[in-house]
Amino acid sequence: MIVAVMAVDSPDVACWLARRPTMMRMRLLPAGPWYRHIVSESPAGLVDYDAELHLHNRVLRRAYSIRRDDRVLDIGCGAGETTRDAARMAAAGSALGVDYSAQMINRARALSEAEGLHNVTFEVADAQIHRFPPESFDVAISRFGTMFFANPAAAFANLARAIRPDARLVMMVWQAHDHNEWSVAIQRSLTGSAASPRSRPETDPFSLAERSTVQRILSEAGFDRVSFADVQVPVYYGPDVDAALAFVGRFASTNDVLAGLDPASRERALERLREALAAHHSRGGVWFDSRAWIVKARRGDHRG
Ligand SMILES: C[S@@+](CC[C@H](N)C(=O)[O-])C[C@H]1O[C@@H](n2cnc3c(N)ncnc32)[C@H](O)[C@@H]1O
Repeated sequence: MIVAVMAVDSPDVACWLARRPTMMRMRLLPAGPWYRHIVSESPAGLVDYDAELHLHNRVLRRAYSIRRDDRVLDIGCGAGETTRDAARMAAAGSALGVDYSAQMINRARALSEAEGLHNVTFEVADAQIHRFPPESFDVAISRFGTMFFANPAAAFANLARAIRPDARLVMMVWQAHDHNEWSVAIQRSLTGSAASPRSRPETDPFSLAERSTVQRILSEAGFDRVSFADVQVPVYYGPDVDAALAFVGRFASTNDVLAGLDPASRERALERLREALAAHHSRGGVWFDSRAWIVKARRGDHRG
């Protein structure tokens, strides 16, 4: 089942969607000029992760079903957009965002202070091993923050201990590399091969792409009622090719490949990357197809 519901007033994005038969199951709703908002909300005109995932976030927000008095845990919260969303939904409850990057947590704190949110806190913590107070959350959420665990079995067992029995886990993770146009295009332009990049679990964005793997990890960690919703909305890389190149150039995976090349090969790889981005540039900016799962599960009464 496709769960994506999105607002579209950009003719380019509407065309982009219409070119893709798999998108036909999505409902397209009229709305304001959201793609201008995407660009202007980023500091100094830079594209950031919140802008890239603006459409994903719309789908995810609906999927949380957070109640007014829920206590929410946001895993790998980054700059905290999803934590702030959760805090607004849980107006009589609370939201805690954890991330092991102190830099991201500082930014998350600054952004939530600027919004005057009083029921949100952030902690620098490794979600895999952090000693959360047991059974102290009603829902755990994550937007692409659970794929980088070195030991997923231990990490999800730790998270299961943090939430109360029957509490919900709602996480968005990437589907496989070859289902993600953005990843194939970047990989092909940087390495000349469309094959999936080899990554360690700590840096592999596709580590939770296989449903059977996720199902096994979660049930061993003490979760049940695991379900998957297929989300197909595009990622946004910027208003023009220069902005997109600057954004993609900040990806760790891009830098990993470029760091291994001599200066001339690096130059050629960047030129191919620029061409790939230009091929996806239209009046609404630079967009690539993407596929993700929203995985939902409940903590069982007995932990595995
Ligand atoms: C792809 S980013 C997503 C950030 C955020 N959820 C968002 O959507 O903007 C992944 C984040 O997970 C964090 N992360 C990865 N592994 C973690 C761990 N074991 N504990 C805490 N944070 C982790 C990273 O520092 C990074 O900020």
